[in-house]
Formats: sequence, structure tokens, C-alpha cells
Amino acid sequence: MTVTYEQAHELVERRLSAASLGHSERVAATAAHLASQYGEDPEAARLAGLLHDWHREMPAEELLQRARELGIEVTDVDEAVPYLLHGPVAQADLSREIPGISEEVLVAVGAHTYGVPDMPRLAMIVYIADVMEPNRHQEGASALRASAGIRTLDDLFAEAYAASLNHLVERRRRIHPQTVSTWNDIAARTQR
Ligand SMILES: [Fe+2]
Ligand SMILES: [Fe+2]
Repeated sequence: MTVTYEQAHELVERRLSAASLGHSERVAATAAHLASQYGEDPEAARLAGLLHDWHREMPAEELLQRARELGIEVTDVDEAVPYLLHGPVAQADLSREIPGISEEVLVAVGAHTYGVPDMPRLAMIVYIADVMEPNRHQEGASALRASAGIRTLDDLFAEAYAASLNHLVERRRRIHPQTVSTWNDIAARTQR
């Protein structure tokens, strides 16, 4: 059994605010387009994009508690910024709450906050779509939109990830250990 986009949309609509729903729909459409440009499955990308912020509005305390219940490693960075857990906790919860979601979609949802070492291509696509969906106006988003479909997927992801890392460093924020592993992998693959 697989879940359709329409079925998933009904569920997302029930749990997220209108603003987050709109963002999720735009990430879904952007991810589907990127997938077709990069030879990945557009339907898997669309579903992952729609579901990626499943736990986006879960309160911090609840995210921490849920992560502990699920046996997800809670580092001191997660404790300082519980918001980061909305990816991994959604990956685990979605596998129980909506049967039939493929593993690659679940991994893409889980990896969209601090990444996962050796990022799968679908996870890179969702990560990039989250950063460059049409309503994103932060630095780097328009450069990503201009490069999409032209540069390699690894390159595009490295660019998106570098922008996120720069943002953290400039604001003197902590960096999650898994973000460092993700960065080291993509840097090794795309070294100039
Ligand atoms: Fe998110
Ligand atoms: Fe998002």
C-alpha cells in the first residue's frame, strides 16, 4: 500500500497552519521539478516535500520528549535547539502514522534539518527545495534557483548547505555533529 499525494495532503492540512501548509506545497512542487531535472522520481520527491515539515509546529518540549521516547540521540545541540529534531522525529513518527511511505521518502524527511552523512539524492533534492522554494528570499535562494538543472545535484546541494553553515557561523550558533558529517561528505565529493 502506498499513500497518495492527495491523502497525505489532507493529513498535512489538518495539522499545519496555513502558512506552513503553503510552504510545504511549494517545497513539494519545487522538489518534484528538481527530481525531474535530476533523473529522480518526481512523485517520491513531491510526497517527501509535502511531508517534510510534519512536526514543524510541535512544541520544543514535546519534540525533545518524543525524540527520547523514540530512542533518537539527543545531543547538547538538540537540547539547545530542539527545533532541529522536527526532521528526525517526523521520520520515525511518519513510518508509524502513515503506513506505506517508502524508506527513501522517510529518510528525506528526516535529513532535512541537519542532514545525514552520505546524503541520498532524494534527500538532497528535498533539502534544496526547502531552501529555494519560490517564497524564500534569503541570501543564496535566487542563486540556487538560477543554478538548478544546470549544475550537478552534488554541487547544488553543497551550495545550499554552505549557505546554511555560513548562516550558523555568522550568527555564532552551534553546529550539530551530524551537520558536520554531512558537510564533510559533500565537501569531499565536490572539492574544487
Ligand atoms: Fe523543516
Ligand atoms: Fe521547510
